[in-house]
Amino acid sequence: MNDTPQPAEPDTTPDPSETSDGPQEVQRPGEFRVADRIASLPPYLFARINQLTYQKRRAGNDVIDMSMGNPSDPPAQRVIDKLSEAANDPRNHGYAPALGIMSLRREVASRYLKKWGVRLDPESEVISTLGSKEGFGHLCLAVIGPGDSVVVPAPSYPAHVYGVALAGGKAILIDTTDPSRYLSDIARTCETTRPKMVIVNFPHNPTATVVGPDFYEEVVRLASRYGFMLVSDLAYADVTFDGYTSPSILAVEGAKRCSVEFTTMSKGFNMAGWRVGFCAGNRDIIRALGTIKTYYDYGMFRPIQIAAIMALRHGEADVEAQAKVYEKRRDVLCDGLARIGWPVAVPKASMFVWAKIPEPFATRMTSMDFATKLLEEADVAVSPGAGFGVAGEGYVRLALIENENRLRQAVRQIGRALGEDLKAASGSQREVG
Ligand SMILES: Cc1ncc(COP(=O)(O)O)c(C=O)c1O
Repeated sequence: MNDTPQPAEPDTTPDPSETSDGPQEVQRPGEFRVADRIASLPPYLFARINQLTYQKRRAGNDVIDMSMGNPSDPPAQRVIDKLSEAANDPRNHGYAPALGIMSLRREVASRYLKKWGVRLDPESEVISTLGSKEGFGHLCLAVIGPGDSVVVPAPSYPAHVYGVALAGGKAILIDTTDPSRYLSDIARTCETTRPKMVIVNFPHNPTATVVGPDFYEEVVRLASRYGFMLVSDLAYADVTFDGYTSPSILAVEGAKRCSVEFTTMSKGFNMAGWRVGFCAGNRDIIRALGTIKTYYDYGMFRPIQIAAIMALRHGEADVEAQAKVYEKRRDVLCDGLARIGWPVAVPKASMFVWAKIPEPFATRMTSMDFATKLLEEADVAVSPGAGFGVAGEGYVRLALIENENRLRQAVRQIGRALGEDLKAASGSQREVG
């Protein structure tokens, strides 16, 4: 890791490469080889935009940041008060049960029943995780190993790809933007390869694609035909618009035989930094995840669990109000972009607008170049589609985390930066189309 030449020093230790059982590679002091599994990770393409944003801000520029799905609004005050009250109780500072206190797991089961009509046994079919990202990563370690393949939606939420790679598995990337084609591609793949796991993620990050209950019925049918396990990432269950509601895979008859589902309090409850997620469903898979977790972590800080119970029990109206906030921001952004000559698909859920790069830029720029242009010339940070894998090329993702005024400002700045090129191209597109 350290390329700096080391000063020559007399070395009296035996050369390990000369001993019969020693390592074959010489490691100098201060030089450490990282594990091979690190090398298996795909490149992290958001680093360039993050670095540029940081530099611009240090130089005094007011960057409007829509690059990350990181909620900017606080949780309900009563939840914060509960956290503080629980933190003031000296009994709450020791290790908590790694899989979540039972009253929290019971609350999750009761939300599933109210929201989706799904009955869950909190003892064996629900555990809490340190956010759903940790849960997913450890689930991969629990059930995937070298030689196993996993169907991963493309474009991809990076942790889906990393989780599989770090567990030694092979990701089979399948385009998920047309859910019925996703189903037929999964079926086709299963005729030649036997994936051990299939990931479904609707509402999808980054594309905001959504599905109805019939999608889950069909994918559960495929799982029982081909014998794969199903992992549903339902991170955006609470951020839905225009009357659309997100179904749960666990509501499908027989789903618990093959599926687990992740939910989170990061998005709808504005508790991203608290790290509260859940995994629910098939008890054997839950048990395997629980086993791995007890080896790696000591669970969530108990006051957070207590406050999370309060949020789950009394927070449905807050969640709905927050979804309305995102819906209004979506309208401001999508209407504004259309007005400056960049019409984009209007999402029905999630915190994202997945925007096709407009002409004439699409034909001459990569998504990274286009995102860099928006940052350099409009002071607006967005995520390049390529950060979600090759299937994301040609798009940028805009997160709805800035307030409506800032979004209007962003649209004005984008309009100025893309200027006449955009107007001319959208005019000719309209004439043709
Ligand atoms: C699809 C998806 N799954 C999981 C997560 C992780 O959420 P959490 O904060 O629960 O770890 C995210 C966060 O952006 C996400 O977009």
